Amino acid sequence: MKLDTVRIFDTTLRDGEQSPGASMNTGEKLEIARQLVRLGVDVIEAGFPISSPGDFESVRRIGAEVGDAVIVCALSRAVPADIERAAEALSTAARPRIHTGIGVSRSHLEDKLRISEETALERAVAAVKLARTFVEDVEFYAEDAGRAEPAFLYRMIEAAIGAGATVVNIPDTTGYTYPEEFGSLIAGLADSVKGIETVTIAVHCHNDLGMATANALAGVRAGARQVECTINGIGERAGNTSLEEVVMALRQRGQLLGADTRVNTKEITRTSRMVSKITGIPVQPNKAIVGANAFAHSSGIHQDGVLKERSTYEIIDPADVGVGGSSIVLSARSGRHALKHRLGELGLTPTDAEFDQVYQQFLALADKKKEVFDEDLEALVSDSERTAEEVYHLEQVHVSCGDPGIPTATVELVGADGEHLIDASHGDGPVDAVCNAINRIVGVPIEVIDFSVQSVTKGLDALGEVAFRVRSEDGRVFTGRGAHPDIIVSSAKAYLNALNRLISSVKPSVTEEL
Ligand code: KIV
Ligand code: ZN
Repeated sequence: MKLDTVRIFDTTLRDGEQSPGASMNTGEKLEIARQLVRLGVDVIEAGFPISSPGDFESVRRIGAEVGDAVIVCALSRAVPADIERAAEALSTAARPRIHTGIGVSRSHLEDKLRISEETALERAVAAVKLARTFVEDVEFYAEDAGRAEPAFLYRMIEAAIGAGATVVNIPDTTGYTYPEEFGSLIAGLADSVKGIETVTIAVHCHNDLGMATANALAGVRAGARQVECTINGIGERAGNTSLEEVVMALRQRGQLLGADTRVNTKEITRTSRMVSKITGIPVQPNKAIVGANAFAHSSGIHQDGVLKERSTYEIIDPADVGVGGSSIVLSARSGRHALKHRLGELGLTPTDAEFDQVYQQFLALADKKKEVFDEDLEALVSDSERTAEEVYHLEQVHVSCGDPGIPTATVELVGADGEHLIDASHGDGPVDAVCNAINRIVGVPIEVIDFSVQSVTKGLDALGEVAFRVRSEDGRVFTGRGAHPDIIVSSAKAYLNALNRLISSVKPSVTEEL
């Protein structure tokens, strides 16, 4: 089936910049404009030149920079000074377009503009005619069309076409409509507007009720061939239609509407990240297409499915939007399949017995932490390898410390013969107290040469990895390591690990001169 092309009109630099706190300087706008060209949009709305010298300069510089790769558009009200300023800013552009228009709803006519329908019609016609004296490509917008009387909207659009508009934009400025309603409004243009077949119909939907993408697609179904949108859906109030949603909905399911776009979808993620970084507006993690979790699988059932066949839980190949791949989030809901897979990816191949132990430790850690990272897994696997050399096993450790107070530790170990051994001691600090209590049970004289604590991952719930270097009476040096979210437990494990290696060693491992 041959698909029609829907043009993508990106207004990140104009409507998107109207997001509170999103203002960008000219250099930043140029950087985004270059990326929009790589993304393959058809039109860049680069600014509203009369609104500020910065906007004027951005339109001028973008026009000069992008050449004929894309149409560069500048916004204006239906006011001569606005249109003249837009034309001046666009003088550098190879393919300039002036976007001009006026409110058409009762609310905008009576409460904002305070003019009659007839005056609005006259101003619209004059604006389009004036814009056409500067450029051949003039887009007319009927602001707040979503809440307008259809009969008046159609009169206005017909008048704009008669005056020379090449594109007619039907905005749902306040994000008010339902998809069926908005679709009918667009479909009605064909029956009621003379000359509509000679122009491109554009839709420009806001997201106040979360329906911007659905409304834009309803518009495409009804005949619109230009969708106005922003990267990450940023824009005034709840934002605009999000570019990545419309583009991917058409790429994945466009057969239903007989339409697609020319966008290079592999550039979507890069563009999204750039816009988020420059504007300082974060992307919500569960945002469709570009959210951090859009291709992340958390539950064991989903992970098992995705590892067997990606499409069981993914309708988009992450590579198609420029993401490296799906991710398996290791958490308390993950199963053995996901853990084994991730360990394999990290080059960690525990034996079956070691894997059982790593899995139990993983579940215990995942209960304490929200997410288990690769570094945690590496620490767990080396911990389980260490356990394989165990003579004494740490059953439990309890400390009491503070200031004032005497750091005291009680330790329970299980010996090789299964005997439970408990003792307690005090020390200069809680770790010293733990080591003293272990010494009382094990009874092997050693000297601590080095002690270090390191956080394995970021965050307060990170695993703490402790390393001890100890020297035996005969001068041999042993290293012990332990990892646990509680650094006192890590210390006990690390100290005991060093002792176990010393006790089980037949030959000296490392000898240091005394
Ligand atoms: O939302 C709107 O109506 C607009 C117009 C200026 C096109 O942004
Ligand atoms: Zn808008």
